[in-house]
Amino acid sequence: MSESKIYPVPPAIAATAHINQARYQQLYQQSVKDPDGFWAEQAQEFVTWFQPWTRVLDYNYGPDEVYIRWFEGGKLNVAYNCLDRHLEKRGDQVAIVWESDDPNVDRRLTYRELHTEVCKLANVLKSRGVNKGDRVCIYMPMIPEAAVAMLACARIGAVHSVVFGGFSPDSLRDRILDSDCRVLITADEGVRGGRHVPLKKNADHAMAECPDVTTCLVVKRTGNAVEWRDGRDIWYHDAMAGASDQCAAEPMDAEDPLFILYTSGSTGKPKGVLHTTGGYLVFAAMTHRYSFDYQDGEMYWCTADVGWVTGHTYIVYGPLANGAKSLMFEGIPNYPDMSRFWQVVDKHQVNIFYTAPTAIRALMRAGEAPVKQTSRASLRILGSVGEPINPEAWEWYYHVVGDGRCPIADTWWQTETGGHLITPLPGATPLKPGSATQPFFGVVPALVDATDGTPIAGAGEGALVITRPWPGQMRTVYGDHQRFIDTYFKQYPGYYFSGDGARRDNDGDYWITGRIDDVLNVSGHRLGTAEIESALVLHSAVAEAAVVGYPHDIKGQGIYAYVTVMAGITQTDELKRELVQLVRNEIGAIATVDIIQWAPSLPKTRSGKIMRRILRKIAANEISTLGDTSTLADPTVVEELIAHRANQ
Ligand code: WT7
Repeated sequence: MSESKIYPVPPAIAATAHINQARYQQLYQQSVKDPDGFWAEQAQEFVTWFQPWTRVLDYNYGPDEVYIRWFEGGKLNVAYNCLDRHLEKRGDQVAIVWESDDPNVDRRLTYRELHTEVCKLANVLKSRGVNKGDRVCIYMPMIPEAAVAMLACARIGAVHSVVFGGFSPDSLRDRILDSDCRVLITADEGVRGGRHVPLKKNADHAMAECPDVTTCLVVKRTGNAVEWRDGRDIWYHDAMAGASDQCAAEPMDAEDPLFILYTSGSTGKPKGVLHTTGGYLVFAAMTHRYSFDYQDGEMYWCTADVGWVTGHTYIVYGPLANGAKSLMFEGIPNYPDMSRFWQVVDKHQVNIFYTAPTAIRALMRAGEAPVKQTSRASLRILGSVGEPINPEAWEWYYHVVGDGRCPIADTWWQTETGGHLITPLPGATPLKPGSATQPFFGVVPALVDATDGTPIAGAGEGALVITRPWPGQMRTVYGDHQRFIDTYFKQYPGYYFSGDGARRDNDGDYWITGRIDDVLNVSGHRLGTAEIESALVLHSAVAEAAVVGYPHDIKGQGIYAYVTVMAGITQTDELKRELVQLVRNEIGAIATVDIIQWAPSLPKTRSGKIMRRILRKIAANEISTLGDTSTLADPTVVEELIAHRANQ
């Protein structure tokens, strides 16, 4: 395997970094040779405990029984760690800088102010009957109250389930019901790119089918009229006005649940990924400090939405646990114009900037001018997350945005992993454009043959698995532990299976090749093909549907649907539009089908299984490498689909 360019660690970065090359080697060795000793030290360094643990790690990786327990017996509170313990030293330092959609509006909350808000909301939640262990749903725009809501839950031991504000009423309903949330926190409307998002209206639709929701707290963001149900609906500011700002942080067991976050799998409905308290916080804080080499006093900006795990770990919990200044952005990269990101960087003197390849590619299209009209001199470190970053986008990010000065942390991880698992460290790791490079401390990745599970030594390519637990690992699928076992521990016994494929080069650097299960990654967002298919077949004109991903210039992957209509139905463009709208309504705007191809029938094996491998090839226009079609029940189906390919 010939290797690409290598960018050595800039000496200026290495000189001041928390972790340099020698330190990485030393700590990594310790982390795998003496994991208990290593993690005990980290847990002491990064987290304040009310009571120490009695055992660092206890686990079983299956195949039949799976459990993972970190820092058992330890007691702590996440909100205490993110707020209270900072008050003495940095109570008046900014915790959250909020940049609104409108470039002329921003807001700063100090640690003390954030603490006060969180205590008040915690009391409001208690007064509405929320107890330790109860689930609270948060369906919010990118405003500081979203972080306040998460931390208020953490303070009283309630388990939050944040649902991304772009999800549809039906998706919200399903998530509320799955985890039996009785309280919903939302806003009247969200604002993105000058447009309003009807959050309360969506919530009303969802709540119409969630009779157990007894409280809906509504933040007034735009002040436009919303419908109201007295008794259930309460203005956030009204409730807060009467609330006490004194609220003790509940001592939680290390393994008490902290949050649930739904994510798409290859089959069925989204899974409620459950994260717990102690291990998650240790891992969030540690990865935030080391992956980005966060230095005290720096301004840090992660552009994700709090509705995704990136927002949980790297806008809220990691940065605040470290006493950082975390910038929260309500808007989008191209509003009011294509230089918005870089203007915000200059305005707030951002030192560390973390975004997704899809955003980089979209901005790259607009050329260098919108970037070069800004200074960006404050930038020190760049980050990438969500999907493999293609070398071309990497180079542009490095040279044009970072002026060839800022290391890029290409962080590979997942909702399930809680934090970074494979990533370069700015002061320690030479960079290769497109490679996530080396494992984080304590993480032992491996490659196995995707078909038979045989371990691959040295350079090679296969399914990416992790051989032992790390503290930020998910603990279960909420309400369905068997699904947790089946999804992650059955296919390759003894390992956690990520669902991704990867290549390892001669230097031991990892190159993630993307999902090898039926999960799509559209603009860095995960979507199950099964979910989209289920939405399509709801339409009375549709007999059958099969969905695959195909390479898309900006989104990484686009959504390609093969649809078979019922006998007697005419295949019109109007029907295509209806189907696109149907899927958006069912799931949300992130699930916008890019291409629909009418399929007289779908390629199936003799046992009736749809051969997606072939459908993926046709969608990607890789007709010459279709592979073996001899096992198909009717090979002529493939000829027909190729002849009428929609993606010409
Ligand atoms: C999937 C996880 C992790 C937060 C955002 C997405 C892909 C993520 C990278 C990266 C290559 C990446 C993987 C992974 N992915 N980061 N740096 N390089 N691929 O979280 O929705 O749980 O998706 O995103 O395919 O499995 P998620």
